[in-house]
Amino acid sequence: MTDAQTAAIRIRQLRSQLEEHNHRYYVLDEPSVPDAEYDRLFRELQALEAEYPQLISAQSPTQRVGGAALAAFGEVRHEVPMLSLGNAFAEEDLLNFDRRVREGLGELLPAGDLFGAGAEVEYCCEPKLDGLAVSLLYRDGLLVRGATRGDGTTGEDISSNVRTLRNVPLQLQGSGYPPVLEVRGEVFMSKAGFEALNARQLAAGAKPFANPRNAAAGSLRQLDPKITASRPLQFCCYGVGQVEGELAATQVGVLQQLKGWGLPISGELKLVRGAGQCLDYYRDIGARRSTLAYEIDGVVFKVNDIGYQRELGFRAREPRWAIAHKFPASEELTELLDVEFQVGRTGAVTPVARLKPVQVAGVTVSNATLHNMDEVARLGLMIGDTVIIRRAGDVIPQVVQVVLERRPAAARPVQIPEHCPVCGSAVERTQLVKRSKGKETLSAGAVYRCVGRLSCQAQLKQAIIHFVSRRALDIEGLGDKIVEQLVDVGLVSSPADLFILRYEQLVVLEGFADLSARNLLAAIDSSRTPTLARFIYALGIPDVGEETAKLLARALGAMERIRQALPEVLTWLPDVGAEVAHEIHSFFAEEHNQKVLAQLLERGVELQDEGDLHAEFAACTTLATLIDKLQIPFIAVTGAEKLADKTASLEALIALSQDWLALSVFKNLNEKARQSLRDFFASPANCLRARQVEEQLRAFGMHWESPRRAVAGLPLAGQTWVLTGTLEAMSRDQAKQQLEALGAKVAGSVSAKTHCVVAGPGAGSKLDKATELGLPVLDETAFLQRLQLLQAKE
Ligand code: IVH
Repeated sequence: MTDAQTAAIRIRQLRSQLEEHNHRYYVLDEPSVPDAEYDRLFRELQALEAEYPQLISAQSPTQRVGGAALAAFGEVRHEVPMLSLGNAFAEEDLLNFDRRVREGLGELLPAGDLFGAGAEVEYCCEPKLDGLAVSLLYRDGLLVRGATRGDGTTGEDISSNVRTLRNVPLQLQGSGYPPVLEVRGEVFMSKAGFEALNARQLAAGAKPFANPRNAAAGSLRQLDPKITASRPLQFCCYGVGQVEGELAATQVGVLQQLKGWGLPISGELKLVRGAGQCLDYYRDIGARRSTLAYEIDGVVFKVNDIGYQRELGFRAREPRWAIAHKFPASEELTELLDVEFQVGRTGAVTPVARLKPVQVAGVTVSNATLHNMDEVARLGLMIGDTVIIRRAGDVIPQVVQVVLERRPAAARPVQIPEHCPVCGSAVERTQLVKRSKGKETLSAGAVYRCVGRLSCQAQLKQAIIHFVSRRALDIEGLGDKIVEQLVDVGLVSSPADLFILRYEQLVVLEGFADLSARNLLAAIDSSRTPTLARFIYALGIPDVGEETAKLLARALGAMERIRQALPEVLTWLPDVGAEVAHEIHSFFAEEHNQKVLAQLLERGVELQDEGDLHAEFAACTTLATLIDKLQIPFIAVTGAEKLADKTASLEALIALSQDWLALSVFKNLNEKARQSLRDFFASPANCLRARQVEEQLRAFGMHWESPRRAVAGLPLAGQTWVLTGTLEAMSRDQAKQQLEALGAKVAGSVSAKTHCVVAGPGAGSKLDKATELGLPVLDETAFLQRLQLLQAKE
């Protein structure tokens, strides 16, 4: 055998193996080999095809990534026209359809039973997928052509595109398939695939798709099949077109055959008897519609017996043997009457669409959220426009698209108000602050805010509703309506006012009586001693949810420290980034907030669990981290470490950076970094800031020279540990922090002075050296146990 012949045999083997794995993965959803094995076979095939290009064929799985782009789609004539379906909207329409079917079959139907009930027809039921119809032509089991429906007689040749769909077999499996087999089905995109694609589109600055149907259509009709290949498209088969050869005698039987040859069919396929069971199926799928992974717009019923189908035939462009029973539309057209602006807890001014009421999927919709002004701009929305409204499942209705052709001449642009519609304060666009390497860059955020804070009744009400909510101060019996009333009558103008409410003020309010007034006062009273974490959460600092509140409380231990913390110091906390740190800092910097906070404490709010700085937090501070947090351009972590080693104190660092000669002989930094260091500390503002941060660290007891950090009393005081290899439960940095918190020094190399070595998988020379020196070596499990023991003692 020649090499080329051997290669051809191997190529055939590889293709059929890969197709088999593909089918198991994408159609059956039961992968049989790990991804790595699939990739290995795929690469082997690619390599062979590169060596023997004459053996490449369109049916090779390597072609699924999309070949060359086309200038235009070719035309395809459908031997058997691709028809559409009649629709049933009401149950009655379906009953009429079934009656017509039975009348049409007449004599052919077996007689009814002895009690006079008519014979019932068997129907094949499937969901009606909301995508686009596609025809796939297989000759001798090989996929040779894919086409769109077009006008039903002529469609577009999209062969290269359908080949990229992972659940379309390029070669049919098994045997017994007709030599010419045209299958028909729907190409669609799952809800999850659609969301992911739109997220990608947005990230890339491209226009998102209005719905999965548009996304599927837009993705399939691409001249460049590589684009199609990158889109999460799927195929589902529901019938056949041109066939030369024999197939089963029933619709369900044919679909089972197709499934056996590797074609995907609906998982919801069901055979029923009579119109009553069709309606049961319709209701069952309807009830599960929002939980299905893909969008459907109804169900399709087909007479199961193919002989009966032939007998019934067609009327105009619709089969008499099939019907689509549609669900109430989840998209409707309506008119945008106005855009109003709502003010939320943090002052965000959100546009809300007021719509001409319209029934969407059985519910009257008259409002829809527009999220923010960027969304309004993206939609290109104007007041007076006709818009498409969508309700998917139980989610809030959305405006998905403007129908530009219907824009009236009098359409008005949507404008963000200059003043808050509730309190009249200025409305400002939020700025996104990005701090990177010492530089602040501001960019326009998507959100506009009313600057009125708690002087704005809308924000005040929401702030108090949040303050008393279950996960915050948890004041029972203080529902939204009561809060609104208390604010409206002027009894409460800040959360602190809750704690000076009196019986005689409450008892005269609408809906209050003796007992309810007493109960509310008792509930307020018993909320006076929250934990620090709950209290921080209750304050409603933008971007500070429950988790961040807990973290702040646990790490910093006391209100006073949290209140004063500089943004740089806040970023010492894991998961607190520059933006959140900025929000926290500016919240407490604001005068009004300071006043309310002081009042709360004056009026008897007492935090339960204030205490020390968390030990772990106290110990994780080094001069190197401080240098790093200062974000000096061109000085990364390793540079910061070298500088810390060289200088040992902030003042020495400032002195060094101002001493041209000393700096130029410090060879551990490159020229760019040295220059940048010099520039940074040449600014008095930067020096001041650095000193302030250091001073705060010292005040908090987080400083490397703080007396609290005198490690003498700690269990690993005086010991030097070395970490090598990889750890699974934590990063090396985290392990280092924990060891340091216990008083150990963590060194980079093993010597006779090393006390202990922690070696994860991949450990090399350091482990060898430790063994050679006879040092104790811990694997990760032993290390974690030791840490636990030591931390328990602490
Ligand atoms: S049968 C002659 N079955 O609905 C029979 N169509 O309104 C033709 N569709 O063009 C189609 N799911 O794109 C059939 N289970 C299903 C379907 C389905 C979706 C689409 C298909 C067709 C349109 C007709």
